[in-house]
Amino acid sequence: MLQHCCYLQSSCKGRRYAHLLHIDSSIQGELSVSRSLTKQFVEEVLAADTILLGLPLYNFGPPSSVKSWVDHLVAPGLSVDPATMTGMLGGRDLLVLAARGGGYAPGTPREGWDHAEPWLPHALSLTALEPRFITAELTLADSNPQMAELKPLAAESLAAAQREIDVQWAPIAA
Ligand SMILES: Cc1cc2nc3c(=O)[nH]c(=O)nc-3n(C[C@H](O)[C@H](O)[C@H](O)COP(=O)(O)O)c2cc1C
Repeated sequence: MLQHCCYLQSSCKGRRYAHLLHIDSSIQGELSVSRSLTKQFVEEVLAADTILLGLPLYNFGPPSSVKSWVDHLVAPGLSVDPATMTGMLGGRDLLVLAARGGGYAPGTPREGWDHAEPWLPHALSLTALEPRFITAELTLADSNPQMAELKPLAAESLAAAQREIDVQWAPIAA
């Protein structure tokens, strides 16, 4: 059985072909590897009252691991009621710690180029999971000499994110 993304090569009439198969070849089958992973991920989410997700920005989008997790999680019959199309994973907290090397604030040259943070709520909407974000940006300012002048903004962004994280872990009054 083919697991996850398999990259196959074949040749025909002297030409070489590359095939990228999505997840596995029997994605719909109840006994497929894909379906059993989906069940495992959905069960993990159902067992949690809080989910903590790290979301770095890679090539202006989510890392393939996060994309794959979401593709497994949106599953009619397990996380979405197929009759009503109502999400079955609501009522729990999904806290996303997002980090991106550059800056994407309004008015900057790459405003709108972050396709990870705006994408996630849409991608998970069918499941009723509603992510909350704590974001640090300009994380590459310290290591990239071309971003040296952005170091103060990067420090500000990190400090703000850390303050928000502290609020999340503040002791709950008895
Ligand atoms: C493969 C790869 C691709 C990246 N692509 C981008 C990008 O498109 N835009 C950006 O702002 N930062 C990009 N970065 C930088 C990361 O978003 C940044 O280092 C972030 O802080 C990573 O999260 P971490 O600190 O939790 O590892 C990339 C980093 C890697 C490793």
